[in-house]
Amino acid sequence: MDLFEYQARDLFEEYGVPVLRAEVAQTPEEARAAAEKLGGGTVVVKSQVKVGGRGKAGGVKLAKNPDEAAARAEEILGLDIKGHITKRVMVAEGADIAEEYYFSVLLDRANRTYLAMCSKEGGMDIETLAAERPEALAKVEVSPLTGIDDATAQKIVDEAGFDAETGAKIVPVLKSLWKVYKDEDASLVEVNPLVKTGDGKIVALDGKMTLDDNAEFRNENLAKLEDEDAEDPLERKAKGMGLNYVKLDGEVGIIGNGAGLVMSTLDVVAYAGENHGNVKPANFLDIGGGASAEVMANGLDVILGDEQVKSVFVNVFGGITACDAVASGIVKALEILGDSATKPLVVRLDGNNVEEGRRILEEANNPLVTVVDTMDGGADKAAELANNA
Ligand SMILES: Nc1ncnc2c1ncn2[C@@H]1O[C@H](COP(=O)(O)OP(=O)(O)OP(=O)(O)O)[C@@H](O)[C@H]1O
Ligand SMILES: [Mg+2]
Repeated sequence: MDLFEYQARDLFEEYGVPVLRAEVAQTPEEARAAAEKLGGGTVVVKSQVKVGGRGKAGGVKLAKNPDEAAARAEEILGLDIKGHITKRVMVAEGADIAEEYYFSVLLDRANRTYLAMCSKEGGMDIETLAAERPEALAKVEVSPLTGIDDATAQKIVDEAGFDAETGAKIVPVLKSLWKVYKDEDASLVEVNPLVKTGDGKIVALDGKMTLDDNAEFRNENLAKLEDEDAEDPLERKAKGMGLNYVKLDGEVGIIGNGAGLVMSTLDVVAYAGENHGNVKPANFLDIGGGASAEVMANGLDVILGDEQVKSVFVNVFGGITACDAVASGIVKALEILGDSATKPLVVRLDGNNVEEGRRILEEANNPLVTVVDTMDGGADKAAELANNA
């Protein structure tokens, strides 16, 4: 799970990494209050979205006083940065920046180790630096046995080319960042920029962290930080039911088994939609191998709860769970949902025991259900129904 910058900042602070004082705000008024709380002087208002390049997109702005902070927050709240809508801003103390550096530590899967990267030239565009002048970006392997200890931290600052005095100030910061990385089960900690202020202090000005979801059983922070993320309510509901669901923008609800099949179903529905008023897939929902009645009911329940959905395309390939079981699942699911199921359902079954599956659906004769033979045919029918609704 990726963290918001303010969440990474809070963790940094807990581990003794020097950060700036900051407050989170969801309205311009809260941003004004935050700026006042921070002393009434210059602050930076920063969009909190889980995507890079906020500065360039107009999501990071200076404000000289609380009134300006409110005005900048007004501009940034709601701002769409690469498809991520800004719901919160972080108001941070303005820093007197003398120099901007770069530091990250990540899991280097290819080499089965950890890798620290560091540069004297931080700021906005580390990808460009890495591509154009790779020699300016030091890469140091970090052994999982020692982590970033004094010797490794020293090696990192030396290879990045810091002078002795600056290097000595950075070393303890890198050791603390390693402690955050390790103790919080992160797979990435990135600080860009790590700055030296006018009075010679080292401060982590911007933090990005990714936590390893597999550590959820031992890391309480994962669940706690996830809760703060006001994700789509349907996504939250689906997650509670153990479903793999992603809300999209279109009108045709999609249910399939297996991520590959669901992905290709999204494609054929988008393609078919071009002939039917440009309707598009409304979601990704993989019900997995089981496809029991209960799972099917849960899936339908989530999808039918999306007001944008006008029709649903169920595209299931019977394997270990044969088509007859899936068909019974659909029939029972519609029984369970009763009157709350009101939108047309197009069902395409194929694979193990397909004839029996189709027979069960035909026998149930639910007026909402249309059974089709092919994936393309199903996509076309579902798109047509969505467009006519
Ligand atoms: N508290 C601050 N005081 C002064 N300047 C700041 C402060 N925070 C950020 N800046 C300036 O804004 C630049 C961009 O900030 P930041 O790194 O947080 O965003 P970004 O890099 O554009 O976003 P992303 O990390 O999403 O790509 C920094 O390099 C720095 O020059
Ligand atoms: Mg940055």
